[in-house]
Amino acid sequence: QSSRSTLIAVDGPAASGKGTIARALAAHYGLPHMDTGVLYRSVALTLVRFGGDFDNEFEAVRAVAQLGQVDPADPELRSEVVGGVASRISAFPMLRAALFDRQRAFAGQDGGAVLDGRDIGTVIAPEASAKLYVTASPEARAQRRLAELEARGISVHYAEVLADIHARDERDSHRDFAPLARAADADLLDTSDLTVDEAIAAALALVEARLKRG
Ligand code: DC
Repeated sequence: QSSRSTLIAVDGPAASGKGTIARALAAHYGLPHMDTGVLYRSVALTLVRFGGDFDNEFEAVRAVAQLGQVDPADPELRSEVVGGVASRISAFPMLRAALFDRQRAFAGQDGGAVLDGRDIGTVIAPEASAKLYVTASPEARAQRRLAELEARGISVHYAEVLADIHARDERDSHRDFAPLARAADADLLDTSDLTVDEAIAAALALVEARLKRG
């Protein structure tokens, strides 16, 4: 990796703030950004639309060919149903393998990139110049998800959202292949008690310090 390329890996559980932080880092350094969760969500949405079987690994792999037909701005991608299906199918090793090359190509582009997901620092871009593991308490994340859903006019109960967060954490952390995990060389950022601006400032400080150390 050339010294002129800045590759930043941001991992963490659902609603930890990793997406917001990754976007802010990309804007700050003028780097392209990939939200890798969108890949898993797009496959999930394709299966939901075509009435696919969420337990069938081959159907999930086949849906990768349809990825180009999913609009990354489709609000349905952000729905709880699609997120839940994405979490389920992301345990399939063949699906993870089928999505590997495009993430790798994005990470390897000249000048660098910012990628966020669950396995960026561990599997997709282990050579990243800076790695963040963004987390927050399940309660803080449930509060945020609730506010987000309410802002979109969707009414749900806090207990339901919290249970969903716990279920997603459990699945994402305990699957056999590329589970959600903090890379040994990732800086930990707990955003539980931070505002969005504070979290972004803390992330920038950690990345800056890491890039300076080289
Ligand atoms: O970050 P997100 O909520 O949009 O991700 C949706 C699901 O996709 C998540 O529950 C697990 C899976 N995922 C993954 O396994 N690996 C990634 N790099 C990104 C997402």
